[in-house]
Order: sequence, then structure tokens, then C-alpha cells
Amino acid sequence: MLALSGGSKSKPIGQVTRGKTAPNRLRQTDVYLAVAHAAQVRGATGVCVDLGYGAYPVTTVETLHRLRRLNPGLRVVGVEIDRQRVTDAEPYAEPGLEFRFGGFNLPLLPGERVSFIRAFNVLRQYDESAVAEALAALAGPLTEGGLIIEGTCDPPGRLLTFNLFLKQGGALSRTGFVLAPRLSGLSVDFDPREFRAVLPKNFIHHAEPGGAVDCFFAAWHASWQAARALAPDARGVFMQAALRLADGYGYSLDRRPALLRRGFLCLGAHVLASLSGIVLTSGPNRSR
Ligand SMILES: C[S@@+](CC[C@H](N)C(=O)[O-])C[C@H]1O[C@@H](n2cnc3c(N)ncnc32)[C@H](O)[C@@H]1O
Repeated sequence: MLALSGGSKSKPIGQVTRGKTAPNRLRQTDVYLAVAHAAQVRGATGVCVDLGYGAYPVTTVETLHRLRRLNPGLRVVGVEIDRQRVTDAEPYAEPGLEFRFGGFNLPLLPGERVSFIRAFNVLRQYDESAVAEALAALAGPLTEGGLIIEGTCDPPGRLLTFNLFLKQGGALSRTGFVLAPRLSGLSVDFDPREFRAVLPKNFIHHAEPGGAVDCFFAAWHASWQAARALAPDARGVFMQAALRLADGYGYSLDRRPALLRRGFLCLGAHVLASLSGIVLTSGPNRSR
């Protein structure tokens, strides 16, 4: 029996929710970490937590194997608030991968720290009023420079959106927002407005016609349409449209080709603030 801190003695914070998941559903989040935060993955001193892995831990297993290509010593911990799902996950455990019962107050070993937390399709099932407390609890054991990836996707993981939170100077700040379509199989007829179905709640409140979210999608849609003349396939259209969105409409984004080519529209702090109404304390802005 493991001696766990916090979570073993205190009641896990949170509630059991639907456990829907699927193979490769969160692939884009692994690719994002491996490309955008490769140095942190390589040098991770803490564990990587997959919070709320669902009915079976396929996404957690996939994360271990994908990120271990960069860091063979990386340890991944799947955390679930549904005890039965922890029991059911145990056959999937392997060296470097374990499953623990717990909640937002993570069930960690004494002295154990956390470098990355992924909470996908978890917070969306909570009231907005519970989110700040959940994030504060998660931030506690994060290492300096540690990241939280919190997001939502459609059932197969074709369209993902996620908030990025970074711990810096001991405090957690929301530093960016990523929209990530799976480019393989994406049609050039794609309409970026399909992302509205997987937006975090804090954006939905700003999604009225003519509002900031509506204007953003109108600009992305127009950019996409214009880019269709410039590239033969969805990958090329995605890249050209992203650059047009930044240069033509002023939406600052991370222009690194390695991200754009893989389908990551990483919006900078200022765009995020205007879309979600959230005031940010800091954040990368690699626009120009
Ligand atoms: C919809 S599933 C998401 C599965 C997987 N992350 C995915 O996106 O495919 C949400 C899971 O989060 C779990 N969950 C909800 N709140 C939690 C909490 N506070 N701590 C740990 N797990 C939680 C639920 O029990 C459920 O199994």
C-alpha cells in the first residue's frame, strides 16, 4: 500500500462524472507537449498527471509511451475519483505508469512533485464556480515552470481546445489558449466555427452574435476561405489561414512552423483575454 500525502487522508475534491474516452482522443495534447514544451518534457523532475482518465486509461497509457520518446525516465500517474475506474485500470499499470484514487487535491507520495497535469473533459462537467478552487488545488504540487493543460474535445478527438496554465513565481497564470484540429482527414471545406461546440465555458459567455468570440471565428473563417486558394490540402490551408488571422486581423499567435504544421493555433495572452474576458498576468506572445 502506497503512503500517499493529502489525498489518502483527506477526501478527494470533486465528483464522479461520465467516463467517456477513446483511443487517440487526446493525441494532440501529447504532440503539443512534445513539440511546444520539449525541453520541459526532457527535463521533467516531477510526474505527469492525467487527471480524470475515464472509464479505461487508454489516454494515460498513450501519453506515457509518446512522452517517453523524449524522456525515457518520465513517470505518469493516472488519477480518478471513481474507485472502480482505478481498480479497472490496474491491469494497465507498467513501469513508470500507475493509477491512484483521488481528486483535485492530488494523491501524491511524500515529497512527490508534478511537472504536467492534463485535465481533459473534466472541468467542463463542473459549475464555473468550482473551477478556481480546482485549479488552486492542482497548482499546489506543481513545480516551478509546471503546466496544466485543461480542455475539451469532441468524442473522437477530432477537434480539441485547451487552456494553458503556467506556474511561475509560485503563482498560476493562464498563459494561452490552443485550438487544435486533427489535420489528418480534415477537409478543405472545414469551417473553424465547428470549434464552438468544444469551447470552454468561459468563452461561451462571450459568444453572443457580434461579440469577441463571434468576431474571432468570422475572421478565422474568412482567413480559411482566402487560404484555400493558396494551398492544396487542409494542412496547408490551416497554416496559411493562421498567418492571415495574425497578419490581417491582429490575432497574436505562436507562429512556429512546427506547431502550425501539426494543427496548433496557439493564441497569445492578449487574444485569450479578449475572447474570454479573463485578465492575464503574464504570457508568451510570439506574434511578430
Ligand atoms: C469524460 S471523462 C474524460 C476521460 C479522458 N480524460 C478523456 O478526455 O478522454 C471524465 C473523468 O473525470 C473524472 N473526474 C471528474 N472529476 C474528477 C476529479 N476531481 N478528480 C479526478 N477525476 C475526476 C470522472 O470520474 C470521469 O471518469
